Amino acid sequence: MSDVPVLRMESVRKTFGGAVVLRDVGLEVAPHTVTALIGASGSGKSTLLRCANLLEEIDDGAIWLDGEEITDPRADQDAVRRRIGVVFQAYNLFPHMTVVENITLAPRRVHGVPRAEAEERARELLERLGLAARAGEYPDRLSGGQQQRVAIARALAVRPRLLLLDEITAALDPELVGEVLTVVRALKDEGMTMVLATHEMGFAREIADQVCFLDAGVVLERGTAEQVFGDPRQDRTRRFLRRVTGAPRLGRA
Ligand SMILES: Nc1ncnc2c1ncn2[C@@H]1O[C@H](COP(=O)(O)OP(=O)(O)O)[C@@H](O)[C@H]1O
Ligand SMILES: [Mg+2]
Repeated sequence: MSDVPVLRMESVRKTFGGAVVLRDVGLEVAPHTVTALIGASGSGKSTLLRCANLLEEIDDGAIWLDGEEITDPRADQDAVRRRIGVVFQAYNLFPHMTVVENITLAPRRVHGVPRAEAEERARELLERLGLAARAGEYPDRLSGGQQQRVAIARALAVRPRLLLLDEITAALDPELVGEVLTVVRALKDEGMTMVLATHEMGFAREIADQVCFLDAGVVLERGTAEQVFGDPRQDRTRRFLRRVTGAPRLGRA
């Protein structure tokens, strides 16, 4: 019956050198749900994700992970980060390490998992992500889509409670976007809790249980995908969606 949100943010404020980048941001992410953050470039999506992972220190407000306040100064920040997987637009794989070495690095170094066990888990993940044959390759031998799938496998290797995905298809050639989105769909089916910032509106509409539209650091509108895409309440949301989809109105299709 535990319905504690996996992630909760309350009144989060973040400034950079006096500029307010997140203003009074609240967010609740229920277990096994997908939240999509949409909004123009510069609206604060990446900053929100970085605050959730404690990569950025917030100026005000509070953040909870599984009911534990992680912005409490007494919280163990490293322990918190170990429970959150992050995948960025740039895959950031280590070029001098094979795929399997990239994936087993954090489990072995940070979590103290024995090599054999870490490698078994890595191979299992590669199998699931359709990369079993690539375990021994170096990243530069892989396509962008394959590298991004390795980055996802690396994030999953530590069995995170929450996965944060920041524009993970933005750097990919269009024909490679699909294979990465397929992986995200599979993760949703397995019940992974995810928050993703994306420009792929069709994908957000399809996969998200909750959609948040950010505008200049404010969550201006939130709702189900059906509400936000099908019948946006705010003028600015409507204008944004019109601009990015090029359609006067998003139909039911
Ligand atoms: N490290 C930083 N220092 C100063 N300003 C930053 C920094 N990171 C982000 N910003 C600013 O914060 C705003 C939000 O950026 P960001 O979170 O990257 O937006 P989005 O991901 O929606 O494009 C932008 O105006 C950006 O220039
Ligand atoms: Mg961003």
